[in-house]
Amino acid sequence: MKALVLSGGLGTRLRPITHTSAKQLVPVANKAVLHYGLESIAAAGITEVGVVVGDTAAEIEDAVGDGSKFGLDVTYILQEKPLGLAHAVMIARDWLGDDDFVMYLGDNFVVGGITDLVDEFRRCRPDAQILLTRVSDPRAFGVAELDANGQVVGLEEKPERPKSDLALVGVYFFTPAIHEAVRAIRPSWRGELEITHAIQYLIDTRAEVRSTVVQGYWKDTGNVTDMLEVNRTVLEGMVRRIDGEVDEASQAIGRVVVAEGARIVNSRIVGPVVIGSGTVVSDSYVGPFTSVAENCRITDSELEFSIVLRDSSIQGVGRIESSLIGRHVEVTPAPCVPSAHRLILGDHSKVQIRS
Ligand code: TTP
Repeated sequence: MKALVLSGGLGTRLRPITHTSAKQLVPVANKAVLHYGLESIAAAGITEVGVVVGDTAAEIEDAVGDGSKFGLDVTYILQEKPLGLAHAVMIARDWLGDDDFVMYLGDNFVVGGITDLVDEFRRCRPDAQILLTRVSDPRAFGVAELDANGQVVGLEEKPERPKSDLALVGVYFFTPAIHEAVRAIRPSWRGELEITHAIQYLIDTRAEVRSTVVQGYWKDTGNVTDMLEVNRTVLEGMVRRIDGEVDEASQAIGRVVVAEGARIVNSRIVGPVVIGSGTVVSDSYVGPFTSVAENCRITDSELEFSIVLRDSSIQGVGRIESSLIGRHVEVTPAPCVPSAHRLILGDHSKVQIRS
């Protein structure tokens, strides 16, 4: 069995971060989202991985390499335009050959991994197996309709009037039956070859499509709110570890990870929090569910429930919450006072804030 990992796409919902960076590489607890996916593929015993890449190919290849650091053998498959998930399957046809495969969306996060799901698929081997999860607003997702026996009878992409609250999770299992289906369908109104249409084709041609409702935690990290939520979940599972320096005037309370080469000076860190190497936190408060990447400066500020990417600096700006801050960002004070800030800043942004 092989894995096809989709790491192309536009990432419009994560702009401006995705103007300069692949969304699959945005870090969660200081590790790229894509890395968690590749680790769970390796843990499930799959080694042959095709990574579909688009405009951000160079950056993805730089981060993943030949896959050996994950115990994987990675082949890159270039998708010249993001023409849809079924299009990605189509262009990977030669590499996939006649093998079964798991298709894993590179910006998805499945807590607990996929090992049990891979085993189940191998055991039952339907033509296709999809994962579903209950969501409060299904209109933003692919939605499945099941009959009384739990069989999938229909799929709709982002329906205005959803027939259930069961959304498709970004992990799919296919046999080579999918290849005929992706060739048979036509582009949707948004110009993409939709994987939901290909699976609907399988259902209509009486192929066996099974579904599993995922009980554990699943998130699409396509937008900032979900990204912060995934960060929170991962940080909650961390174990305290202080390899860097915490001076006597500072407190590091609870599940705090301070990487080697990081320094905490006259500050209060309340976990779960992770601080990357080379980062200096001084005269500041860093509160729960915050990840600060490498080589940042947090000075005379308060930060909570946020992700800060590497090489950024936040100085003297009061309190920042629920924010995703890109690389090489500078946040500095300006006169006057909002006491909390909510920021979505792209790489290389410079912002002046009243504090
Ligand atoms: P999406 O989140 O559906 O699409 P997108 O990346 O274009 O993002 P947005 O909606 O914010 O513009 O994509 C899911 C995953 O699949 C993501 O990792 C990107 C990848 N993908 C491809 O590799 N090729 C494609 O043609 C598409 C549509 C997505």
